[in-house]
Formats: sequence, structure tokens, C-alpha cells
Amino acid sequence: MAAAAVQQSENPQPTRDFSIRRARFADIPFLGPVERSAAELFRSANLDFLVDGSTVDPKLLAAMIDAQHLWVACDYMDYPIGFSGGENVEGSFHLVEISVAQDFQGKGVGRALMERMETDVRREGFKAMSLTTYRSLAWNGPWYSRLGFVEVNPVEMGRTYLGILENERQHGFDMSARCVMRKIL
Ligand SMILES: CC(C)(COP(=O)(O)OP(=O)(O)OC[C@H]1O[C@@H](n2cnc3c(N)ncnc32)[C@H](O)[C@@H]1OP(=O)(O)O)[C@@H](O)C(=O)NCCC(=O)NCCS
Repeated sequence: MAAAAVQQSENPQPTRDFSIRRARFADIPFLGPVERSAAELFRSANLDFLVDGSTVDPKLLAAMIDAQHLWVACDYMDYPIGFSGGENVEGSFHLVEISVAQDFQGKGVGRALMERMETDVRREGFKAMSLTTYRSLAWNGPWYSRLGFVEVNPVEMGRTYLGILENERQHGFDMSARCVMRKIL
């Protein structure tokens, strides 16, 4: 039943172990635990505060679902093992979060989420994607670079980006290690 649901989901992209689809409201309770599990990776970079910090507000997740801007990677039972979502920031599709549960990392799930998201937002008319990340962590800046993102000057991106960075500073991020990246679609 659940496996059949994966096959029948909107634009399913079946792969060996997982499928990508748009998120539904019923997925929301699964996404906090996925995000927490994913964040364990930051312990290896001595960034434990990220593991213990808050997860994306369920209200924001719901708003992203409403806007069709939240995607989940699901296992063969159609349970979320990863998700990515974003919102319109100054005309770009800005990544709010991408997380893949610890046991599923390094298997191409994150790349598949990024590629599906890019395909869908390009189709919707977005001309660029953006994000903030750690410039040098292997699974952040260098990974996004391999996906076609380049670092940009936040000042040139507009006020909202400066606000996003300020918000990160207030949440304890070391801003010398953070950057804004963009991909022209
Ligand atoms: C970033 C993240 C979503 C990637 O998901 P994923 O399913 O592991 O992604 P993929 O398997 O497609 O690719 C993993 C990439 O990270 C690289 N990587 C580097 N160090 C790694 C590590 N310790 N563990 C896993 N992957 C690592 C791999 O080389 C791989 O790059 P490649 O595909 O170009 O070879 C996942 O690592 C995650 O959830 N991290 C914690 C949350 C996070 O950092 N979110 C992004 C915030 S900006």
C-alpha cells in the first residue's frame, strides 16, 4: 500500500532506495526528527549548538507546503528520510533547509532533493536559487559548489539577505565562516 503510494505520487522519481515528492501536511511530524538526526553531522565540526538548536517551525513548514515549496525524500514505506524547502527572497528561490537523516547521508539523497527542487522552481519561473551556508564544511559550501552554486556578496543580494545573516548572528553562528551562495537557473 505505502510502496504503491510512492509509485503513484506526483512526478515520482523512483531510485534504488528512495523517492522524491512534494511534502504533505501529514509529513510535518516526521521532519523535526529528520532535521535533528541530520544535524548530528555538525558534531564532527564542533558545532554542537546546531544539533541542540531549534528545528524549522512547523508553521513555516506548513506555509512551504501551501506554496508547494517543500519536498521530501521517502523510503520504500513512504516515510520521510530527508526534506528540503525554501521561499521567495527578493525574487530568488531561497533554501530555508535541507536535511537528510544520518543513516541515509552520503547516498545521493541530498543531491536528488536539490535537483528536484531546482527543476520545479525553474518550471515555476524562478531565475535563481540562493542559500546561506558554512563556506568550508565539506557537506556545505564545497558540496553546493559542485551543484553549481557560487558565493556572492550579500550586500549585492539585497536587504533581506543582510537580515537573514543578522538573524544567524543572533543565533550564535560565527559569521566569518558563513556565506551566501547563488545559482542562476
Ligand atoms: C547536506 C546534506 C543535506 C547532504 O545530503 P546527502 O544525502 O548526504 O547528500 P549526497 O549524498 O547527495 O552528497 C553528500 C555530499 O557531501 C559530501 N560529504 C563530505 N563530507 C561528508 C560527510 N562527513 N558525510 C556525508 N557526506 C559528506 C560527499 O562527498 C557528497 O558530495 P558529492 O555528492 O559531491 O560527492 C546532509 O549532509 C545533511 O543533512 N547535513 C546536515 C544538515 C546540513 O548541513 N544542511 C545544509 C545546511 S546549509
